[in-house]
Amino acid sequence: MAQTSVKARLQPILSNLYHVTDNPNGIVDMGSAENHIMTKDVSDFANSKIQTTPTTFNYGEGPWGSKRLRTAMANHMNKYFHPFSDIHPDELVFANGITSLCESFGYAAGSSGDGILISRPSYQAFPANFGAKAGLKCVFVPFGSTDQFSVSAIANYEKALLEARERGISVRALLLCNPHNPLGRCYLLATIKAVMQLCDKYSLHLFADEVYALSVFDSSSSSSAVPFTSVLSFDSTPYISPDYLHVVYGMSKDFAAGGLRLGCLYSRNKALMEAISAVSQFSWSGPVSQLFAAQMLEDEEWKEGFLEQSRGVLKERYEKCTGILDEHGIEYSPGSNAGFFVWTNLHPFLDLSSCKDEWAAEDALADKMLENGLYITKGSSLQAEQAGWFRIIFTQEDDVLEEGFGRLFNLIGAKKVEA
Ligand SMILES: Cc1ncc(COP(=O)(O)O)c(C=O)c1O
Repeated sequence: MAQTSVKARLQPILSNLYHVTDNPNGIVDMGSAENHIMTKDVSDFANSKIQTTPTTFNYGEGPWGSKRLRTAMANHMNKYFHPFSDIHPDELVFANGITSLCESFGYAAGSSGDGILISRPSYQAFPANFGAKAGLKCVFVPFGSTDQFSVSAIANYEKALLEARERGISVRALLLCNPHNPLGRCYLLATIKAVMQLCDKYSLHLFADEVYALSVFDSSSSSSAVPFTSVLSFDSTPYISPDYLHVVYGMSKDFAAGGLRLGCLYSRNKALMEAISAVSQFSWSGPVSQLFAAQMLEDEEWKEGFLEQSRGVLKERYEKCTGILDEHGIEYSPGSNAGFFVWTNLHPFLDLSSCKDEWAAEDALADKMLENGLYITKGSSLQAEQAGWFRIIFTQEDDVLEEGFGRLFNLIGAKKVEA
């Protein structure tokens, strides 16, 4: 297998996590995109509200998700995504995470060697998710100085598609990660419509990953931040056929419950839904997880409070993290109002003298971080266009963030700048 081993990369980190008293020499995780603060509320909810029955431990109604869960999710999305047409439970298929749904979609949407357009930078797992087994190739789209959230970005997608064709890659789909990981920004409605028109022009499936849909916060530092607009929230039929529009969503981010391993795909394309269901036994979501999720989604009062608290936490953590970066004169990508990350420019701290190029210097800095007990994802893993950018996860408690930034600043020699 030519695939990079995720276990080899992550096990040394995840099995040795920092804890202020239990493991002070462990690794500070500012790399995994999890909302570590809200997980306590999820655990409290589970401990107080969830009752299993013997049937919970059966195989359940099948891998695609129980009627109860699909109904609860359809109601949830109808309330929070403001869809133009109501979402029906039969238009949802569940799997053990969006990760698996990317793979199933990869099998269904094309043949091995076909392509899917994805903007740069990008969530690091997409190449493996679409490619490892289904063989779909990620065709990453660079933007240079063009704002990828603006309508002008469409020309970049089209150029990348035509260049891929010249290399013999038949592009079948376009992935729109909205809100965007790692940039933490949302797409303008006009851009979404233009993306749909491009998809229509080239018969591309639009695969919208909206997993951070409700992890959007008021950002006082980004007055121009764009609110989240779901691809489902307006009449898209003038721009794209419903058969080509698909959305993935799940429990991992907005519900701080990645460990449930639950994601769903919404589509009105019956052939696609059948193709995905035909292989869904390989990505079966467990009925215990399904019960937890259904209960969380159904409890409107708890959910409302949880989501509101989560938005407050995200705003506060984002401001804390960017405040620390500001104090040290470190640049980060502006305009964020979503997700758990700050896209941070550590280029000035790369040691270019001992490396063959900037990318090697970025690798060297990431390696040194790990040696010094700090895990932050480097830009090359996220298809950054320029070396030196890192994705810092801010959804950690104070002691973890302070320890992590302390280790980082020690390593790179960053000092507080004079006010
Ligand atoms: C954009 C995006 N999509 C999907 C996933 C993974 O989702 P799941 O846990 O449902 O497999 C992540 C996790 O980091 C993500 O950032």
